[in-house]
Amino acid sequence: MKPIITLAGLVLAMAATAVQAEPIVIKFSHVVAEDTPKGKGALLFKQLVEQRLPGQVTVEVYPNSTLFGDANELEALAKNEVQMLAPSLAKFEQYTKQLQVFDLPFLFDDLASVDRFQKRAKGRQLLLSMEKQGITGLAYWHNGMKQLSATKPLRMPSDANGLSFRIQPSGVLESQFAQLGASTKKIAFAETFDALQTGTVQGAENPWSNIYSKKMHSVQPYITESNHGVLDYMLVSNTTFWFAIPHQIRTQLEGIIEEVTYEVNRAAEAANQADRDRIRKAGTSEIIELTAEQREAWREAMRPVWQEFEPVIGADIIKAAQTVNR
Ligand code: LMR
Repeated sequence: MKPIITLAGLVLAMAATAVQAEPIVIKFSHVVAEDTPKGKGALLFKQLVEQRLPGQVTVEVYPNSTLFGDANELEALAKNEVQMLAPSLAKFEQYTKQLQVFDLPFLFDDLASVDRFQKRAKGRQLLLSMEKQGITGLAYWHNGMKQLSATKPLRMPSDANGLSFRIQPSGVLESQFAQLGASTKKIAFAETFDALQTGTVQGAENPWSNIYSKKMHSVQPYITESNHGVLDYMLVSNTTFWFAIPHQIRTQLEGIIEEVTYEVNRAAEAANQADRDRIRKAGTSEIIELTAEQREAWREAMRPVWQEFEPVIGADIIKAAQTVNR
């Protein structure tokens, strides 16, 4: 006897398949400690996803470069070996030059200005600047403004002359230090502490949260509160993976990302200030506050970088970013 497939039977069968289907797994890899703006954001994302999409989506978070590090995480994303990352904006140079706008020294007065730029049309467009390379930008997450640290006090730009600084892989950052007569080494974040400790480099630039969580202050006796640039992130996914997620689930994930982004960005500044305070209390490093004149001298010294990179970044983008300071 031929089996009769009714519509109701078909619907049931499909529903059963849906129930049995394996959950979508999102591996989220990053390079910083858990107790940092990005580290906490990744964990909050996992928590909300697993609360709201139980059995449908699972998130595995790998902090501290334990799954992939700076050297291979974007390659791993392209191969879909990891599905979510939040690299600092300085780490996308080989995919788009436009994001280098965020590395320009003294472009943004503070994190609130960075936030305004990211929310405006130009900033939002940049989230889609790597679609052709298969990278979809989902959100901007803040860390904070960068501070200069070194084995000697840096009060004026000439104090950096002859020192070697660890940088992220960004031409803008390389040029920024070259203006000071300093050399640079592009070193993965996971290896930065060792490089500072062993003297491979004498200085670095980091937000307070990264200095504190990686104990860099224990090997950098001087930290200049320069606030000369920003270290922020783009939460990214593999474009093919992301758009293959069923629409209804993807919409929920987007809603969760919006919530997490709000929380990360709301809390980042305070978290950095708390870590600044912890560093001060640790007593390992002198925190050097610059006078208005000293800060102006740093701004002037680094300023030529803007002109150098305007043709690659785009004058329109730099101009749009400049209008956000108040
Ligand atoms: C760095 O390499 O200094 C940062 O990009 C690390 C991070 O992800 O905050």
